Amino acid sequence: MPAIKIAPSFLTADLGRLAEEVRAVEAAGADVLHLDVMDGHFVPPISFGAIVVKAIDKITDLPLDVHLMIEHPERQIEAFAKAGGDTLDVHVEACDDLPGILARIKALGCRAGVGLNPETAISAIEGVLEEIDQVLVMGVNPGWGGQSLIPETLPKLRELRELLDERGLNPDIEIDGGVKVHNAAECAAAGANVLVAGSVVFNDKASVADNMRELREALASNEPSA
Ligand code: DX5
Ligand code: ZN
Repeated sequence: MPAIKIAPSFLTADLGRLAEEVRAVEAAGADVLHLDVMDGHFVPPISFGAIVVKAIDKITDLPLDVHLMIEHPERQIEAFAKAGGDTLDVHVEACDDLPGILARIKALGCRAGVGLNPETAISAIEGVLEEIDQVLVMGVNPGWGGQSLIPETLPKLRELRELLDERGLNPDIEIDGGVKVHNAAECAAAGANVLVAGSVVFNDKASVADNMRELREALASNEPSA
């Protein structure tokens, strides 16, 4: 199994102490920061935009995975690239010209990610798999942190991993939403190599450091021994 990356998401973090929350996940060994941008149209809530992404970019060297839950992402990708986004994830449901926007993301010097909502089939991206650096598979309906993993996500991850293997392709597969200590290893075994970790890391039950450790231990204890 490839090394699994953990990508904390900040929707349930204490945003009044955002810089401290970023430092806490950095110190706890986060691999990537997952930044959830919501526009109030593609999903009901509004979260934050490029100004906040830029502020986070200033205080960290970790790669920024910018999850654009927005309509008309083609109008915004340049701003998020300039703000310091490393991977820009657009949703297939929001793109009229997916190949065109993926090409533009790459021309801006970013990695091109594509998000799939729970009800969106993998066939929606089959024609552009070669152009994708990361497939973001939603494990919940987008909009809010703290939801439960939709069980159909696991077979979907397996189907995607098989399809990519058949084609000899190896983009990142990121599972976003519903990752918990008890299902993290299952998500990885199903084919995800990047786990978004929101409320499992930022909650009032334990510290960020303890939560990250517990998640890593759950992953490690399920790794097949060599
Ligand atoms: C949901 C966001 C997710 C979410 C993950 O719309 O895209 O990134 O914050 O949160 P948890 O891990 O709590 O499901
Ligand atoms: Zn997300």
